[in-house]
This record gives sequence, C-alpha cells and structure tokens, in this order.
Amino acid sequence: MKLVILALVALLFTACENSGSQSNEKKSESVPASTEVSKKVDEVAIKSKGLALDASDNAKKVVLKTEKVASDLSAKAVVVSKNMTTEVVSKAKAIVSSTNSPSGEKLFKSCAGCHGSHGEKHALGKSEIIKGWSADKIQTALNAYKTGARNKHGMGMIMKGQASKLSSSDIKELSKYISKL
Ligand code: HEC
Repeated sequence: MKLVILALVALLFTACENSGSQSNEKKSESVPASTEVSKKVDEVAIKSKGLALDASDNAKKVVLKTEKVASDLSAKAVVVSKNMTTEVVSKAKAIVSSTNSPSGEKLFKSCAGCHGSHGEKHALGKSEIIKGWSADKIQTALNAYKTGARNKHGMGMIMKGQASKLSSSDIKELSKYISKL
C-alpha cells in the first residue's frame, strides 16, 4: 500500500513538473523573439535618427551655399546694372547733346542771308567780312553781341537779336563752322 501511494505521488510529481516546464518553454520562446524585435526597432530608430541628422546637416549646407550664391549673384547684378546704367546714361547724354546742338551748318543758314553763304559779304553793307576769321574771334564777337556789349558799326542791335537766339554751345558750333568757310 505504501508503495502504491509512493508511486502515485511520484507520478503526480513528474506530471506537475512536465506541465510546468512546458509553460516555461513557451515563455522562454516568446521572450527572446520580442526582445529581438524591439532591439531591431531600436537599431532602425537609431539609424533613422542618424540619417535624419545627416539630412538636416546637408540641408543646412545647401541653404548656406544657396545664400552665398545668391549674395554673389546679387553683388554681380549690382555691378552689371551699374555698368549698364552708366552706359545708358552716357549714350542718352550723347543723343541729347547731338540733338541739342544742331550742326554749325544748319545754324549758319539764318546768318547767310546777310553775311553770304560763305561769310564773304559785308552784312547790310556794314559789317566786316567774317570769312577767314578764327573760331575764337567769331565766338568772342557773338558773345559780346549777345550781352549787348558790342556795337562796331552802329548796328549791334541787329546782331544782338541774332546772337540772343543762340546757346553757348550753338555759338561754339557756329564759330567752328564759320572759321572753316
Ligand atoms: C539781318 C542781317 C544779319 C544777320 C541775319 C546776321 N548778321 Fe551778323 N552782322 C550784321 C551786321 C549789320 C553786323 C555789324 C554789327 C555792328 O555794328 O557791330 C554784323 C556783325 C557780325 C559779326 C562781327 C563782324 C564785325 O564786323 O565785327 C559777326 C561775327 C556776325 N555778325 C556773325 C553773325 C552770325 C553768326 C549770324 C547768324 C547767327 C549773323 N551774324 C546774322 C548783320 C547780320
């Protein structure tokens, strides 16, 4: 009888042990699997953090380079636009000065009636023949008629009327032209 009880206890014991180790095995199987997954997740997280940092570093570099290129470009643009402006201004000035001072030839048309088409006449039978005069001499005479200071033959008023229509650059152009007649 004792033996039977012992055998039963022994059977029970082993049965309990078996079932316990079975559940333990199941646990130990699932634990490593989930740790591995979470490890991998951590690795991926670390790697993607690194990638994100690299990307933001590169983005910063790109921004800096873009800023530099932009400032270089704008500096160049300023120089180019300055050069263009001076060029345009000087061209415009050239156009203005060429239209503002009609050639001496054109201006002399209003003088030729009295002085002759080559300045070879005594204007109104009174003036000297101005053909052969130097540009300086003509310029001085015209400026003096313009202010009313000159009256060589008693007809200075007639020349005052003529000279006061002329600008100083007109007088220069005219004087040059007449001196070459
Ligand atoms: C209406 C006729 C007339 C016209 C037009 C005329 N002149 Fe005269 N010019 C005279 C007379 C007259 C005198 C002499 C004035 C004086 O008494 O000093 C004279 C004198 C001069 C003199 C100085 C000569 C001297 O004897 O001392 C010059 C230079 C001259 N004229 C240039 C011009 C020019 C340039 C023009 C055209 C812009 C012009 N004249 C148009 C009549 C004219």
